[in-house]
Amino acid sequence: MKIILIGASGTIGRKIAATVEKDHELVRVGSKSGDFRVDIGSTESIEKFFTEVGPFDTLISAAGDGHFGPLHSMTAKDFRKGLESKLLGQVNLVLIGQHYVRPKGSFTLTAGSLSEDPIALGANLSAVNAALEAFGRSAALELENGVRINVVSPTVVEDSPGYFPYFPGHIPVTMDRVAAAYAKSAFGAQTGQVYKVV
Ligand SMILES: NC(=O)c1ccc[n+]([C@@H]2O[C@H](COP(=O)([O-])OP(=O)(O)OC[C@H]3O[C@@H](n4cnc5c(N)ncnc54)[C@H](OP(=O)(O)O)[C@@H]3O)[C@@H](O)[C@H]2O)c1
Repeated sequence: MKIILIGASGTIGRKIAATVEKDHELVRVGSKSGDFRVDIGSTESIEKFFTEVGPFDTLISAAGDGHFGPLHSMTAKDFRKGLESKLLGQVNLVLIGQHYVRPKGSFTLTAGSLSEDPIALGANLSAVNAALEAFGRSAALELENGVRINVVSPTVVEDSPGYFPYFPGHIPVTMDRVAAAYAKSAFGAQTGQVYKVV
């Protein structure tokens, strides 16, 4: 199976890569690293990327930034960061990638538990994560040729200790459980699901 992994060098992406690379052809992708480069914040860059990388079976995205900061000073420009990077970036991987994915292939996007379990400073990422989950549920109804889509929505992960102070009382999830959710999405049969890893 040819697997495209966007964000392969990241905290979550590295663990996904280690899980899938043994049994599959893995294409590592990032904006500054990897076998191929793409900036998911740019439609032109995504179009160029898919043309270069060619047909694939599975796309997993573990990339996309948002704005993290207090509501009282948040601006529309700040908010747009999450909309244009984490939300539209990943949505665009599907909107454009649907024309390159092989029949019965799949997409797996990354949201996060802030969609339903908010923390202070997280309004932008809460909104973006909820939108990604809704997009996945809905896009599953219309993707053609048996192509599936699921969204993985983890809480803070054990390999991101820098985030722990912002998640009081949240128990970080193990990287093994996070990686398993991506494997369930990519290699299972379900579609339109949101896999909460909490
Ligand atoms: N870490 C957590 O606890 C946690 C929990 C829940 C959800 N999440 C979500 O999971 C995703 C990944 O998180 P992470 O902690 O693994 O992030 P990370 O360690 O910062 O890694 C980000 C990855 O994305 C790539 N990337 C960054 N900007 C990109 C762009 N514009 N286009 C394409 N690739 C890009 C980076 O590679 P390059 O440097 O080469 O661009 C890197 O491989 C994020 O959306 C985050 O919100 C994380």
